[in-house]
Amino acid sequence: MFYATLLQITLYLLLFLLSIVLFILYKNSLKSLQYWKNKNVPHPKPWPFIGNLLDLVTLRFTGGICLENLYEQFETPYFGIYIFHYPYLIIKDPELIKSMLTKDFQHFTDRLFSTDKKYDSLVSNFMFCLQYSEWKWTRSKVTPIFTITKLKKMLFLMNDVADEMIEHIEDELNKGPIDIKDICLKYSMDVIATTAFGSNGHCFKDEDSAFLAIARQTFHVSWGRFIAQTCLLLAPRAISLFNLKYFDDKVTNFIREMSWDALRKRMNSTTKRNDMIDVMKQILQENPPKDNTESERDRIIAQVGTFFSAGFETASAMMSFALYEISMQPDIQNKVREEINTVLSRYESINNEALEDMKYLHMILLETFRKYPVIQFLDRTCTKDYQISNSNVTIDKGTLLMFPLFGLHYDPQYFPNPKKFDPERFLDENESGIDKQFFYLPFGKGPRDCLGKQFAMQEMKVGLARILSAFEINKCANTPDFLKLTSKGFITASQQKIELLFKKIS
Ligand code: HEM
Repeated sequence: MFYATLLQITLYLLLFLLSIVLFILYKNSLKSLQYWKNKNVPHPKPWPFIGNLLDLVTLRFTGGICLENLYEQFETPYFGIYIFHYPYLIIKDPELIKSMLTKDFQHFTDRLFSTDKKYDSLVSNFMFCLQYSEWKWTRSKVTPIFTITKLKKMLFLMNDVADEMIEHIEDELNKGPIDIKDICLKYSMDVIATTAFGSNGHCFKDEDSAFLAIARQTFHVSWGRFIAQTCLLLAPRAISLFNLKYFDDKVTNFIREMSWDALRKRMNSTTKRNDMIDVMKQILQENPPKDNTESERDRIIAQVGTFFSAGFETASAMMSFALYEISMQPDIQNKVREEINTVLSRYESINNEALEDMKYLHMILLETFRKYPVIQFLDRTCTKDYQISNSNVTIDKGTLLMFPLFGLHYDPQYFPNPKKFDPERFLDENESGIDKQFFYLPFGKGPRDCLGKQFAMQEMKVGLARILSAFEINKCANTPDFLKLTSKGFITASQQKIELLFKKIS
């Protein structure tokens, strides 16, 4: 009897303490949620603890689509939101975006995406995570591998991978519809293997290839990885608290092993291949590791990892979206094939000039990036207080900002009938062309834009031109009528398999 009463009292006491803790947290949350009101910045009404992205927390939509939904509710050039209780400023106005990304870049030099140096030292050294001074040095070292001359050299490597892709598709022709996500995954992994690691990935030839296993593992967004990635972008303080990492350990270790292996071989040879391994060699020579710790070694090889993480999923996803859209509209397919064949009849192979002449293929890609912005929003941290012109609002140092690509790319004032896939939007190539505007941002803009844009364009054009000149592609009973985007992860990707029928053109 005595013990039962004691237990009851303890339980009541615990419940009482819990209620007090919840009440304090609730009060603190309400206080944090006054931030935008105090600044006189328009914002939607937040939920205590969750903020404004209920649909993200409940996995209804990806972060990019949640932002698009909010974008449609505001007419103002910017608005505030809360993710949990962290305030974020969302910028809608293209002129303001332009100032922030270019003229006033010095106020917004860093991204908010980052990992903890102690727990995820490799990814924390990736270029997108680096803060201004380290970023500036690293970008200047890596930029030279993307010069036109070096890209031209990489064209041969990409064409070799495309040869293997065409052979592979020919072998698969009699087996029924072909999963194009799988084809594009193998193609882009083999391109990264040869251009970044200096190896043949053998993804088309060997189902047990180590590169293919890693490609599949990276594409499979486990719940653990999804939660980690969400926090890396949206709840920065959770990173150190829960030791979160961007990649699964298997992927990180693979990048480490492959990079060191390639670097060791290159250090002992005089070969110069103008690839990422040469850049690492230069970094190692100019700025040798201070000690033999993992974090120092990671600093050297991190840019190969950057190449892998920035270049593989993005290009692969975009190429499969382009093939899907082309297969759904036979007129577009016929027109682009005619262009490719005409251009190829003028050149012996797909060289730089041939790619330049494929204007309609270029427009198809620009429209693919519009409809499926692979990175759903750009992110920046305010690194120096910033007064928004013609307003009384000052953005405080440390404020997190987002530029909502889905919102901008689907805004009918910039893109009439935005759900339609229409490459003709990009007909105008001059300075006022859409791709020069700050409401079209698939690769970002300004000093921190995508470093691999030309590389990615070249890779995708080679792959698409080779496929479309060799095969007719058609939808089949298994092809989805419209694509559902996965709500797991920040890379825009289709939730469904995309199967198409390929027919050899004789
Ligand atoms: C379809 C393919 C790709 C798309 C749509 C894409 C898009 C983007 C976007 C939106 C950003 C952020 C830009 C900003 O914040 O202003 C970015 C950054 C970056 N991308 Fe790409 N990317 C693609 C492929 C690649 C490839 C193939 C590479 C490398 C080979 C690459 C390397 C990078 C790097 C290094 C950054 C960080 C730049 C910096 O912080 O200075 N990307 N990319």
